[in-house]
Amino acid sequence: MSLVASSPHLADTLTIVRLSLHVFAACVWVGGQVTLGGLVPTLRREAPHALTSVARAFARLAWPAYALLIVTGLWSVAAVHAGAASSAWNAVFAVKMALVVVAGVGTLVHQRATTASLRGASAGIGTLATVAAMVLGVALAG
Ligand code: HEM
Repeated sequence: MSLVASSPHLADTLTIVRLSLHVFAACVWVGGQVTLGGLVPTLRREAPHALTSVARAFARLAWPAYALLIVTGLWSVAAVHAGAASSAWNAVFAVKMALVVVAGVGTLVHQRATTASLRGASAGIGTLATVAAMVLGVALAG
């Protein structure tokens, strides 16, 4: 363990823009899924007829956020010179990319599922993969 702590420093403007967009998109994608998941039981009880249109309205926000995560994520790969990264960083990045795919596919399957069990399982898998991708993102940022 190093005894010399690096001193705090401010990020430059482009880094602030890049990471703010990435984190904002993660807030919408991750936070929206968790929040909607928490609201569904109440909606189902109080306004079951509104469930489908609420889910569609959420999808119109969530998928552009997912696209923004990919675009700003690719921007980050270029900005942090990932080619020169350690093998540990590359391994974490590879796992994160697999989780991003699982999160996207899980969410897509959830939206199209016709049985309650598939809908529940895909929602659970998609949300878990998303949260894990977020944690690995924090690890990548160092
Ligand atoms: C479910 C999708 C994703 C989530 C929830 C997510 C979340 C995050 C979070 C929370 C951070 C930490 C930001 C910080 O601490 O300032 C981060 C960093 C990062 N993400 Fe993502 N991310 C996602 C998708 C992607 C994709 C698709 C890529 C690449 C194509 C990517 C590449 C990166 C990189 C390289 C960093 C480190 C940036 C740096 O060190 O400046 N992410 N991510």
